[in-house]
Amino acid sequence: MTGMSGAGKTTLAFGVQEILARQGYNVYVMDADEYRKTLCKDLGFSREDRLTNIKRLASRAKELSEEYDLIIIAAINPFEEGRGFLREMYNSPLLYVKCELDQLIERDPKGLYQKALLPEGHPDHITNFTGISDPFEQLGKVDWIIDTSSVSIEDAIAQFVVYIQDYLKEQRATVFFQEFLSTLEQRTKSLKANKTDVELVAEQVFRSVFEIPVYDLMAFLYHDFRNLEQFESWIRKDEPEQDFKRRIAAFYRLLHAVDEQTDYRNQVLTNEQWQHWKEKGYIQISGLISEEDCDNVKEQICNYLEIDMWRSETWWPQDDRKLHSILLPSLVTPETKDISYNEQVRRVFEDLYESTALVPKMVPLGYNPPETTQSKFRGTGLHWDIDFEIGARYYIQGLIYLDDVDADGGAFSLIPGYQHKLDELLQEHGTADNALKWLEQQQLQVNLAGKKGDLILWLETLPHAATPNRMDKPRFVQYVAYQKVEILTT
Ligand code: ADX
Repeated sequence: MTGMSGAGKTTLAFGVQEILARQGYNVYVMDADEYRKTLCKDLGFSREDRLTNIKRLASRAKELSEEYDLIIIAAINPFEEGRGFLREMYNSPLLYVKCELDQLIERDPKGLYQKALLPEGHPDHITNFTGISDPFEQLGKVDWIIDTSSVSIEDAIAQFVVYIQDYLKEQRATVFFQEFLSTLEQRTKSLKANKTDVELVAEQVFRSVFEIPVYDLMAFLYHDFRNLEQFESWIRKDEPEQDFKRRIAAFYRLLHAVDEQTDYRNQVLTNEQWQHWKEKGYIQISGLISEEDCDNVKEQICNYLEIDMWRSETWWPQDDRKLHSILLPSLVTPETKDISYNEQVRRVFEDLYESTALVPKMVPLGYNPPETTQSKFRGTGLHWDIDFEIGARYYIQGLIYLDDVDADGGAFSLIPGYQHKLDELLQEHGTADNALKWLEQQQLQVNLAGKKGDLILWLETLPHAATPNRMDKPRFVQYVAYQKVEILTT
């Protein structure tokens, strides 16, 4: 933790330690103020001494690291060199406890700012005081920031705890992944004939999460493997770090989800939402996706299709490969992934599948411009997405409105509750096509108006359709879907 004197580093660190201790974590706080009375007693506040201070704390942390789950070093650490030193040594995250200077001067619990502000030559004046007469260097990469001038200490501690829990989770997943790679390599080389079920499942999940064909994997392990680091970068290819981390998290989660299958605990859905889902076969939830995430994806779609919102003549792109009826089959960017992998959305899917063993499906984006006399609506009519060769499954589809959508602005439509009537309809009308034609005539479709960021989920067995856009602006959506990994339950 870096931050100026009095910003709240110590309070935060001990507050977090207390909460995490109750959850069974063994946390040690290295408070620089305390260490300056012992291990670092001989040091002053020159640049050199401050850097030595950090280095000593770092070595002490190393000695203690075996005994603790987590060590928090709370020191001003005003120079990038010192911050970089810790990051390099431990690959540890840097947390910035920020506070406005006027607030620090006002708080001044130790009266040090007052002393630093005294005129030079005054007997109580202190020199080289960080933020007054000594620099607090601009920060480079920071992993987490809290501004204690605007957030209460309780809230700051709570947010910090969440950050650390996520961090520890990520660490666990990474360690698990690396150990898996190591045993996979040894197992393959030892030519052990009989793999246990658990090993087989783990390998299958591994290959599916990282999208590695079995042949490629074997060829790599037999011919190209040099060391684990090289193995890992072969798996990663040139994927951005964030995406690779998501895969590692998914891998960990999938293999640890087995135990949760039998007694899944609901996470986010309310009783009313569950009731609605069971009766109507769909659900609409606001407020999970930020406006910013929506705008970012919308911008991606506009760039890709070369659409300018201010010039309506650009709203009807002609390139069939980019826009296929009302779908964009191949646009995937970091911005679209932020939504595809959104944790909140994932939790709703987990609740509905009653499982955490889910993998995201690659599904397209949607773009539906206003209908004109020349350019008619190009979407399909009312349909099910059932593969009738396999039969109906419990499979959930979804989309997110990237803008406010009116009922006649190209809204998504469905026939509530008709997932229950599938068999009956098929029997009565002989074929799916006949049943759908009959359904269309009944005019039971409901258009779902919605707000920017609304998530709509529905069962594939519910008759549904996109509808013509009769408003004066294009309609943007991102589809989302997860599939349950059945392999783990067998
Ligand atoms: S660091 O710069 O070397 O990382 P460290 O966190 O160990 O500093 O110690 C900072 C603490 O020393 C402050 O919280 C404050 O109580 C005290 N202190 C005394 N003199 C100074 C000074 N000149 N600059 C900053 N902190 C000082």
